Amino acid sequence: LEGPVFQSPRGTRDILPDEATVWRFVEGRALQTAARYGYGELRPPTFEDASLFLRGVGEGTDIVDKEIYRFEDKGGSDLALRPEATASVMRAYLQHGMASLPQPVRVASIVNVFRYDRPQAGRYREFRQFNVEAIGDVDPVIDAEVIAILWRFLDGLGLRGLTILLNSIGDGDDRPNFIAALQAHYRPHVDKVCGDCRRRAETNPLRLLDCKNAPCQPFIASAPRTLDFLSAENERHFANLRRYLDVMGLPYEITPTLVRGLDYYTRTVFEVVPPSVGSQSTIGGGGRYDGLAQQIGGKYTPGVGFAAGLDRIILNMREQGCALPEPERPSVFFAALGDEAKVVAADLSERARQAGLATMVGSGDRGMRARMRQADGSGATVAVILGDDEIRDRRAAVKDLRGGDQQVVDFDDLASHLAARLG
Ligand code: HAM
Repeated sequence: LEGPVFQSPRGTRDILPDEATVWRFVEGRALQTAARYGYGELRPPTFEDASLFLRGVGEGTDIVDKEIYRFEDKGGSDLALRPEATASVMRAYLQHGMASLPQPVRVASIVNVFRYDRPQAGRYREFRQFNVEAIGDVDPVIDAEVIAILWRFLDGLGLRGLTILLNSIGDGDDRPNFIAALQAHYRPHVDKVCGDCRRRAETNPLRLLDCKNAPCQPFIASAPRTLDFLSAENERHFANLRRYLDVMGLPYEITPTLVRGLDYYTRTVFEVVPPSVGSQSTIGGGGRYDGLAQQIGGKYTPGVGFAAGLDRIILNMREQGCALPEPERPSVFFAALGDEAKVVAADLSERARQAGLATMVGSGDRGMRARMRQADGSGATVAVILGDDEIRDRRAAVKDLRGGDQQVVDFDDLASHLAARLG
């Protein structure tokens, strides 16, 4: 039954072993950086009740309206693959009564995320995020803390030329005034802006500021600014945040048009962008979401966090030539010649592994030259050669595959010899 070979679904990728080494390194750095600020790991489920995201992220956002992977399971539950992690983390906080813990609750996650987006370089339908949340505190020192985690993580990977864009978009106290001013600004020009913006002006006016289409740019440039509408309290919050960022040595650019694509944000919003421009090149983004808990049926619970796109980070590291870990290879290759020697190789290699080494046994029937080609191809630095003579004398020829020199080692001493040499 032969047909076309299956391909991974559009927008998904296999991360092959050499690439996985890089991923493990980056994910390790992410969680280590978060741990340095007191963030423990939280692992939420991959799918949730769909309505968690409809209410949390918001109907009227692209993520919910166009991109959500929503399905009914065999039991009739209405579920969705997570399009982001913040709503899940807040759900977990509420579900487990974490309000009774010391506040804020600080958690970090590595999550795969699903969005039915148009795939292109750095944009996938399944991608991965480093997600960080601090829930239960309004203090802007926490806003500065999560921004610091994002920045130190990226800087520590060797990425250069990044910019932190920062804005405050207010909240229920001042947002209505701003929205009214924004709509008044657009009203005389509705026939000149793009179709999306015509709709946004009614359904999600804040997103007008986010439009990338050329005809809309002049109206964005002359639009009112959220910062000019902040309540006294929100203005103080933003001023304090900037003081913290300044003393912590975190560079940022105030960007009045920054609004973000999810509905739950209040006050602080930020993004980190690489030197090359383009909206889908944003490496990470986040902000405060003091209204989210109530939107999903909980008590008022402030929070702040971010997510960084790991796929894009690795892409940028490769583009910038950042140091990446070497692919892992076994250090020892057992090159046995003949059936009897292979049995001995199976025994000796297992003992070497027990001594902590990564080893590999050459398989199949091969002569000396083909076996040594196999050894070279394995990436090992040392070959243990086992032929008839070696089996008879119970001594192996240990060959350095880089330099070429060779020495004879008793079987009984082999594991400790290799461990001393390579361990
Ligand atoms: P977001 O801006 O939707 O925020 O996504 C965060 C990051 O995920 C983006 O900056 C980007 O690097 C990456 N990303 C988004 N879409 C794709 C895609 N299709 N392919 C590859 N990477 C992508 C959130 O998800 C919020 N939950 C962040 C947050 C946490 N806010 C507060 N806490």
